[in-house]
Amino acid sequence: MKKDVIQAIVFDAYGTLFDVQSIAAKINVFFPGKGEEISKTWREKQLEYANLRQLMGIYRPFSVVTKDALRYAVKKHGCRLDETAERALLHAYLDLEIFPEVQNVLMKLRHKRLVVFSNGSHDMLDPLVNSSGIAGLINDILSADDVQMYKPTPASYDYAAHRLRLARENILFVSSNGWDISGAKNYGFRTAWINRQHLPVEELNLPPDGIYPDLNGLLEWTM
Ligand code: LAC
Repeated sequence: MKKDVIQAIVFDAYGTLFDVQSIAAKINVFFPGKGEEISKTWREKQLEYANLRQLMGIYRPFSVVTKDALRYAVKKHGCRLDETAERALLHAYLDLEIFPEVQNVLMKLRHKRLVVFSNGSHDMLDPLVNSSGIAGLINDILSADDVQMYKPTPASYDYAAHRLRLARENILFVSSNGWDISGAKNYGFRTAWINRQHLPVEELNLPPDGIYPDLNGLLEWTM
């Protein structure tokens, strides 16, 4: 039975609890009409730079990677990023919109240990969780920066399992990012993919244990 196995639920942050694309509106203030395209490139480069730095052995915290990715994205779309715009947009990353169902679902799950585990560094992650209204529902905030190993490396998920002091099969990992779900499955967590963008399953032979359009589907793991 699903419910008996799961003792903790671990949530990815960006894209899963918080809407990274909600920053497009703030980008439009500085670069009118280019918010969506710059936001998309910004997210793509943020993930790409984290992966490249991990593979090259030149790790830097996600706050640095996010700044570098913003600089690239603005340049790629033919704009110039001044200090005011850069400071304002990086600050906007600290209060991204939370998806509408998150607070209600976390309330219903709070008989389980609930943890956020993100590639985000604490200087960006903690203010985001604390300003979102869900801090009181979350038992801990873990960052890949604590061990300088980004998801989807096995070592990053192993860090989360050790902090929880639980066997991997007793942990349900929740993410909207297919690469993250694949990494968690590869490590041995139970996995719930929140497929907000209605994408196909990654061709990595690491299928999710559950697929849902939003967090409400998680309730079946605790009935
Ligand atoms: C996170 C982003 C990378 O780890 O999805 O929250």
